[in-house]
Amino acid sequence: MDTYSEQISRWTLDHLPARITEALNSLAAFERLAADMSHLLAALPARPDHVPALTCRRLLVNLGFWGSALVRLALVHSRADAVLDSTTVGDLSFRHYYARLAVQSASGHPPWQSFASIITWNVPTVEIRLDGDLHSRSEGIFDGPRVRTWTGTASEVMLWELFKVGAALGSAANRSLDPIVSGVVSALSEESLSRLLASHAFLRSFRQRMVNFARGQDPRGEFSIDVFMNQIRQFGVPWQSRAEAPSGPHEVESLARDAIFGMPQLRHGQWVRDRSRSMMSAEGKRLEQAADAPTLGEVIQRSTAKTRPFDDLTVSVLVAAHDIYEERRKLSAAHYGIARKMLYRPQRAQSSDRAGTPTLAVDNSQGITGMSEHDVQRFDHARRVNPLENVLAALPSDEISHARSLIQESLSTHSVSVTLRHAGTATSCAQA
Ligand code: HEM
Repeated sequence: MDTYSEQISRWTLDHLPARITEALNSLAAFERLAADMSHLLAALPARPDHVPALTCRRLLVNLGFWGSALVRLALVHSRADAVLDSTTVGDLSFRHYYARLAVQSASGHPPWQSFASIITWNVPTVEIRLDGDLHSRSEGIFDGPRVRTWTGTASEVMLWELFKVGAALGSAANRSLDPIVSGVVSALSEESLSRLLASHAFLRSFRQRMVNFARGQDPRGEFSIDVFMNQIRQFGVPWQSRAEAPSGPHEVESLARDAIFGMPQLRHGQWVRDRSRSMMSAEGKRLEQAADAPTLGEVIQRSTAKTRPFDDLTVSVLVAAHDIYEERRKLSAAHYGIARKMLYRPQRAQSSDRAGTPTLAVDNSQGITGMSEHDVQRFDHARRVNPLENVLAALPSDEISHARSLIQESLSTHSVSVTLRHAGTATSCAQA
């Protein structure tokens, strides 16, 4: 790593959380923090135009944490000046320098902190395997095992890891289905059946992780609701108008999954387009493609429309596709439960007892992208619709039971493994 980038990375890991805590309690400490940041920034090349792309990405991660910390602290201290314009790197403002790094990173990164920089690049590489075969790999870009945070807490590390592992599992699940919805793999084939089962196994593993997280079953301890609401979320501050701070709704594979399975009764397209402004450009394109393709339910229904009577393979595909919709419903319910448990429910309790609440930069009564509990619930309801329910209802129940028992047996033998790896080592390996 270049010396200047290394120095900034080490400072972020070793000093940023404590300096933020100090600066939250004192305007003078905030001013000292901004001055020290300027001093460190002075070591960067005045123009990033010749900085290698990987170094730019590393800087986007570290300076992303700095930028949101500065904006939050300015809000807490009611500082009227636009802190990202008054903090400078050479003769460029922090805001412009960050935007130039984004261009020079050749990654399609937006000119403000993103889901990719906080999570995908920050957390070590995640690999997803099914029965030993690699299905998805999401690269981290730093050498060591440490994860950059604002708070220095285990809760924040656990949150970023959950998002990254969830995104990698979601990617593996979607990639298994993509060739079926695009028509590259015939929906009524053995390959389609094994892809449906693989995708199901990935989604189930993701759900189990969500549930374990909500139950506090991580060996590092229980995820702290207080840290989530009053610390981590408080850095979810937009850097400018129309810029959204990073949030779950910017996780591209979740949105692609909704396109693959469908979101009936919702005007979902515009909602997705609004989110893609804060994503990487390739992610926006991925979502456009996913939106243009038919849904899994449509493809399966179309393929079975003219095949009567159904042979065993067709019944198995129908049951497997029906059941993966059920798994998707359960995953959504687990997520909705988390959002309620970690934010909406405690927020209602807090708002009736405001004494002792710290000054907030971000309103806890809604999500970072502005979603209310009702909005998240509406999404969850849309995911309860199973388009294959009626098709299955028309089949003899003994045929369904037979196919389902074979599917369950096959699913029970599938093993999904998740590995977190940083340069040279596989650091942890968790089975689900
Ligand atoms: C593991 C990965 C996660 C992914 C991929 C994810 C993804 C999403 C998505 C796509 C939405 C939009 C609503 C929806 O589609 O239902 C959302 C909303 C939300 N999620 Fe998650 N989520 C994850 C984990 C969590 C966790 C752990 C929490 C709480 C600690 C949480 C809290 C919320 C909240 C509060 C909202 C409303 C969002 C807003 O307005 O910005 N999510 N999430």
